[in-house]
Amino acid sequence: MSNVVRVWDLPTRVFHWALVCAVIGLITSAQIGGEAMAWHFRFGYAVLTLLLFRILWGLTGGHWSRFASFIYSPATILGYLKGQGKPEHAIGHNPLGSLSVFAMLGILLLQVGSGLFSDDEIAAAGPLVSLAPSAWVSLATHYHAEIGKLILLGLVLLHVGTILFYRFKKGENLVKPMVNGDKETPLTVLSSRDDAKSRLLAAALFLACAALVACLVQTR
Ligand code: HEM
Ligand code: HEM
Repeated sequence: MSNVVRVWDLPTRVFHWALVCAVIGLITSAQIGGEAMAWHFRFGYAVLTLLLFRILWGLTGGHWSRFASFIYSPATILGYLKGQGKPEHAIGHNPLGSLSVFAMLGILLLQVGSGLFSDDEIAAAGPLVSLAPSAWVSLATHYHAEIGKLILLGLVLLHVGTILFYRFKKGENLVKPMVNGDKETPLTVLSSRDDAKSRLLAAALFLACAALVACLVQTR
């Protein structure tokens, strides 16, 4: 008998696909440069809002979106690598996948944080540049435009590569649950809460994050 489990609640799915669109917008606008940098900034603020929201949602969201459900001990990760994973690891983020999720969230935060202090000394300067000594601004700009973007690109390629590997080598479609929210499993496991009340809470949290970001970037 197989059960249908709500694994990714609607707010997590909207977060994910909005993040994908914004990161594509950021890379494209950075490549175009010039006038497009105004959009680079807008997409950057959108990513910051999304990341702040995801941190709060990691504490308050549906079961499988909570950090507590996918923070694993080094012993569990090592065991998983040796093939001693538990069946329920296949429901949310597995021990190895969780490392990639935290790495992507951390690197995105660094990319946005460094962007706020970046200055190309021609036309585009992040909104917090005037708050930092110029040595910090140079460091942030170097990291943002030369290093961070490559690390992020590497992680995204690894991420998409893993999803393709699961699809074509292991025969598991991970994208579908990230679209419709559900997985079928023979296990009896908890579903993520995903009702009108929790979605309303997510919308309120998202608006609060957007307001915070708007205040932060209006300091110049
Ligand atoms: C995930 C978020 C972000 C990504 C992936 C990203 C990506 C990039 C990339 C790839 C470049 C390099 C363009 C080149 O090769 O010259 C760049 C430049 C830049 N970004 Fe971002 N960016 C992000 C967020 C932000 C934010 C939030 C801001 C500021 C509000 C910002 C401000 C800038 C500035 C001022 C530059 C020009 C630096 C220079 O070329 O010297 N970025 N960004
Ligand atoms: C800019 C590109 C991308 C970024 C930054 C990104 C980031 C992320 C993040 C942060 C998560 C964790 C979700 C959470 O718990 O909040 C995630 C999960 C996921 N992403 Fe992406 N993603 C990108 C592109 C894609 C693409 C193109 C696909 C589809 C082909 C995809 C499919 C998925 C799936 C299926 C999961 C769930 C993985 C699992 O079952 O553990 N992502 N992604």
